[in-house]
Parts: sequence; C-alpha cells; structure tokens
Amino acid sequence: EKDLSEKLPLKGKKILITAGPTYEAIDPVRFIGNHATGKMGFDIANEASKLGAEVVLVSGPTSLKPKYQNINLIAVTSSSEMFEASKKHFDNSDVFIAAAAVADYKPKVVANQKIKKSDVTFVIELEKTTDILATLSLNKKKQLVIGFALETENEIENAKLKIQKKNLDLIVLNSLNDEGAGFGKPTNKVTFIDKNFTIEPMPLKSKEDVAKDILNKIIQLFYV
Ligand code: CTP
Ligand code: CA
Repeated sequence: EKDLSEKLPLKGKKILITAGPTYEAIDPVRFIGNHATGKMGFDIANEASKLGAEVVLVSGPTSLKPKYQNINLIAVTSSSEMFEASKKHFDNSDVFIAAAAVADYKPKVVANQKIKKSDVTFVIELEKTTDILATLSLNKKKQLVIGFALETENEIENAKLKIQKKNLDLIVLNSLNDEGAGFGKPTNKVTFIDKNFTIEPMPLKSKEDVAKDILNKIIQLFYV
C-alpha cells in the first residue's frame, strides 16, 4: 500500500493537460471562440506540479501564467493546433486531463482576406473539429484519462455516455445550474463519475480546491 499523504505522490508521473478556449479563424481578423479563461486547467497544472508531476500544459488563448517554471506551457490558438500538440505528448504521458473548452465546430473555409460586409444576412459554414479527448483516449495504452463534461440537462446520464464514448477513467461533471460555478467564476461545483459509474457529488469549492480533489482522485486511481 502506498502512503497517500506522502509529500510528492506524483513524482515521476507525466501529466498532459489541455486548458482554455480555442479560437477558430473565420478570416485574418475574426474567430469563433468561447468564454473559457483556462483557470481550471491552470489550477490543475499548478497543483500537479506541486505534487511532483512533470506537467505539459497545452493551452488556448489566455492571460494566465503557470505558477511554476518547470510547467511546460505550449500555447496554441485553434483546436487543430491543440490536437497536434496534445497528440505529440500523449504517448509519453501517464495521465491526460482534458480541461479545455474546445470548439465543437470551426469554419469550413478560412477567408484569406478580411470578409467585407455585403448582404443583410451572412452564413458561415461550419464543420466538426477533431474530438481531442476521444481521439487520443480511444487509442490509449497505460494512460489514465480524465475528461470534463458540461451539461445543462440529464447531467448524470449524459456524462455517463461521455465516459463510454470517449473511453474515460473519470469524468468531472460541471454544473452550470449552480450559482458560483462555471465560466469566469473562481469557484466550481463538480460531480465525479468514474468508469464504474460510481457517482461522487462534491460541494461548491474554489477551483484550486477542485484541482486538488481531481489530483487526489488520480492518485487513488493509480493505486487501485
Ligand atoms: N473535448 C475535446 N475536443 C473536442 C471537444 C471536447 O477534447 N473537440 C473534450 C473537452 O475538453 C472535455 C470533454 O471533451 O474534457 C467534453 O466536452 P463537452 O463539450 O462537455 O462534450 P462534447 O463531447 O463536446 O459534447 P457536447 O458539447 O455535444 O455536449
Ligand atoms: Ca462540446
């Protein structure tokens, strides 16, 4: 039995984390993005590093800086850049945590020049982005893979479906319904669901404390 109170319980473990939003270009001056700040992913990266892990943090556009110098920050802009950077580091990782708010769709064509306004309405054709989490996890070997789920209805059922569809070890379900949880907030209300569908609702906490809980879960998963 491993002592979970040991000071550096993630020493020697390589952890890959995605964070932040993605920006999908429409033309040279415009993009489709979202309100993610990256805070949840950066808090996980900081906490993992503090616990001794070797951290690679692939982040979309954000104003945040990692707390520790040895966190390997790879700054990306689009979902396809995030996918390429994550793919490069996945095989070498022990844990993959997908905390990014990746765009589900991107413009099918990116205009080379700034699009001029003309008609009253304007349609942009979108195509699906690569599901970074699902694509990497469906080819996983030894890795522990943790995803997030953002749901507004049938939360538990939908999160369970994501565990199966994306071959996850653990999903962190975000409740947007709760005051004080979600985008741009310092706090988060999450429910853990593992691959055996064990459900563990957590109280409202700071994102730093949610990050600690996630890493504690991962430490437990290493020793079961
Ligand atoms: N994710 C990803 N790549 C994508 C879309 C999502 O890696 N192109 C990851 C997110 O980082 C998150 C998980 O998949 O860990 C679930 O994201 P979410 O938006 O809740 O689910 P989707 O699978 O995109 O489904 P939907 O938005 O339709 O609920
Ligand atoms: Ca999505």
